[in-house]
Amino acid sequence: MRRVVCPGSFDPVTNGHLDIIGRTSRLYDEVVVAVLINIEKRSLFTVDERIEMLQAVTKEYGNIRVEKFHGLLVDFCRQQGIPAIVKGLRAVSDFDYELQMAQLNYRMSGVETLFMSTNPEYSFLSSSRLKEIARYGGDVSGLVPDLVHQLLIERLRG
Ligand code: PNS
Repeated sequence: MRRVVCPGSFDPVTNGHLDIIGRTSRLYDEVVVAVLINIEKRSLFTVDERIEMLQAVTKEYGNIRVEKFHGLLVDFCRQQGIPAIVKGLRAVSDFDYELQMAQLNYRMSGVETLFMSTNPEYSFLSSSRLKEIARYGGDVSGLVPDLVHQLLIERLRG
């Protein structure tokens, strides 16, 4: 079975993430979407809420498994028998950070990192910008799946 991991915080999942996950799902038998448990970072949604949203919006692909992990991503890969990581690259500004992480991950474990270019339609999109816009009443429809849009508005309304 050809298996790969798409890791991230997914707080919340955006259409940019979904584009990468969906395109990756056509190349592999199984895509494991791994949600980082990061107690140091304040998040809008709990890890379990993020997992539920991811499960709902990736259901149609048919070969996605959503998991959570903490610690090093390469340890998670080893435990799950996953030889490669797929990352979306939005712009050159992502590259330095991603290259360093890819090289360190390979050095630590031999796990490969494959970069997929983001659909230009979403190259400006990030979860943090999205939350900022939504928090101040900006329109984020079309940037996230409808379900996430609804939950985002409810959560920010308090
Ligand atoms: O969506 P994000 O927050 O950009 O995702 C970043 C993520 C989760 C992919 C990255 O922070 C990660 O892999 N964290 C786990 C810790 C780790 O393995 N660090 C790599 C050291 S080289």
